[in-house]
Amino acid sequence: MPATLLKGKPLARKIEEEVASEVTELRQKGITPRLSVVLVGENPASRVYVGSKEKACKRVGIESETFTLPESTTQAELLKVVGALNDNTAVHGILVQLPLPGGLDADEVLETLDPAKDVDGFTPANMGKLLLGFPYTVACTPAGILAIMDHYDVPVEGSDVVIIGRSNIVGKPLAALLMQKAKGRNCTVTVCHSRTRNLTSYTGQADIIVAAMGSPKFLKAGMVRPGCVVIDVGINRVKDDSAVRGYTLVGDADFGELENVASFITPVPGGVGPLTVGMLLKNTVKTARFCGCPQ
Ligand code: GUN
Repeated sequence: MPATLLKGKPLARKIEEEVASEVTELRQKGITPRLSVVLVGENPASRVYVGSKEKACKRVGIESETFTLPESTTQAELLKVVGALNDNTAVHGILVQLPLPGGLDADEVLETLDPAKDVDGFTPANMGKLLLGFPYTVACTPAGILAIMDHYDVPVEGSDVVIIGRSNIVGKPLAALLMQKAKGRNCTVTVCHSRTRNLTSYTGQADIIVAAMGSPKFLKAGMVRPGCVVIDVGINRVKDDSAVRGYTLVGDADFGELENVASFITPVPGGVGPLTVGMLLKNTVKTARFCGCPQ
């Protein structure tokens, strides 16, 4: 039997409706949620992501502005931009799109960014709060993964989860969320990565596999247990001369192989991606409520 498709768009639309009504309520109180996005350099995928975040803000009534800085930006210049946004009381949320061009230190940028305005949940303070069990903002992709699984009633509680990829953006915060002592969580989480020996010995036992390592079609049917859940976080551009843009988007899981083996699977595109944007909108409203700066 083919897997149930975990489509992200219908849930993302629902989240946008909820956020839009929260924004209306805040505006009535004199608070217009405002998100500042900092984009450094020419990374084409980052430009696309930032564009879709801007459009989503517009749809729900969040004010957004993007500071596009050249590839040649120095660390000091970038820190100055972030510092000015920290100090601007009209700005509630700040997002620095990652990865940064080579030579720039993302860790130092995130240490500088005001945790109260951190819509990504990436600052040391917010990652620490998540790990300790009293989160403020939570990284958008992991939060989106939980939202999509909950929405489609995927059995998460107490399951054995294997996450492939130990990034600060997905793997680490997702592991913290799934292992929470909380209803619907309580998972036993294994985080695998590029140095894991015998990866299949882990994936082959898992109830849920989250593929988040940035390797096109890496996860194959032979690596999983029939009936497992596959969450595909990868968005890889693969050269395709027959496509108008010259490339096709594929995930980290081999969808063609896995759709007849898994019980649930997220498509790429249209799976986790739309939820990442939805969670960003929710986090922006959260920061606006917290900062609560009347304009
Ligand atoms: N790069 C890839 N995903 C993200 C994200 O969720 N936030 C930011 N700031 N950069 C990213």
